[in-house]
Amino acid sequence: MNRIAAIRHRLATEGPPRTIGHDFETVTLPARDCDLVRDLLVAEGARSVVEIGLAFGSSALAVAEALAGGSGSRHVIIDPFQQPAFDNIGRDLLLEAGAAFDLVESPSSVALPQLLGTSVDATFVDGSHRFHEVFVDFYYLRKIVRPGGLVIVDDDWAPSVRTAVRYYERNLGWTALPDAFVGGTLRHLDDDPAAESVPRCRALRLPDSPFEPRFEDFVPFQVGG
Ligand SMILES: C[S@@+](CC[C@H](N)C(=O)[O-])C[C@H]1O[C@@H](n2cnc3c(N)ncnc32)[C@H](O)[C@@H]1O
Repeated sequence: MNRIAAIRHRLATEGPPRTIGHDFETVTLPARDCDLVRDLLVAEGARSVVEIGLAFGSSALAVAEALAGGSGSRHVIIDPFQQPAFDNIGRDLLLEAGAAFDLVESPSSVALPQLLGTSVDATFVDGSHRFHEVFVDFYYLRKIVRPGGLVIVDDDWAPSVRTAVRYYERNLGWTALPDAFVGGTLRHLDDDPAAESVPRCRALRLPDSPFEPRFEDFVPFQVGG
């Protein structure tokens, strides 16, 4: 096991090195979903990733594992609350693992416009879960992730996230990879025990040829009631 994998394994089995005001199990991406994110990025040959939401660093370590080895990788992580809310736990674990990354401590709505003009292979989105902020993240990521690249999103069970994702699927040609999270964690839609269980993560491929739809072609995208 390499150093990044070893530190991710330690985090998953022993928990974070210090206690803070956030519950690890509730906040962090489960280990098996982290494995699937890593495997998907490796299968894609991704060398550059923009990640939103560092927190405890489980997903960031999985992304770092995928990017390790070889040269020319880039891992940009955006999170305005890493120090004040997470006491730099995710950052410190990445440093201990020897991972290469750039941490931008701004809200994604501020950081992503500054990345316009760069191109990355994939993104992992697990930041603000408010509809308007996820929607804006995708607005910019659509211009930052290369044509044919991957958008991976956590918490597709949450109506706010799911509704934002569905706009891009139904109107902008993002195509779900239905098998990407087979074997991953399932969650009830809207955390309602009576509702359908769905994979918590969803992977989508951007169209090879980006396009702007005519406003007359708008497809309603609201999910649920
Ligand atoms: C669910 S946690 C991410 C968990 C992380 N993927 C892990 O595996 O530990 C959500 C993160 O999004 C960050 N966040 C909240 N609002 C944000 C915003 N507007 N822009 C970027 N990150 C934000 C929070 O500080 C928090 O670290």
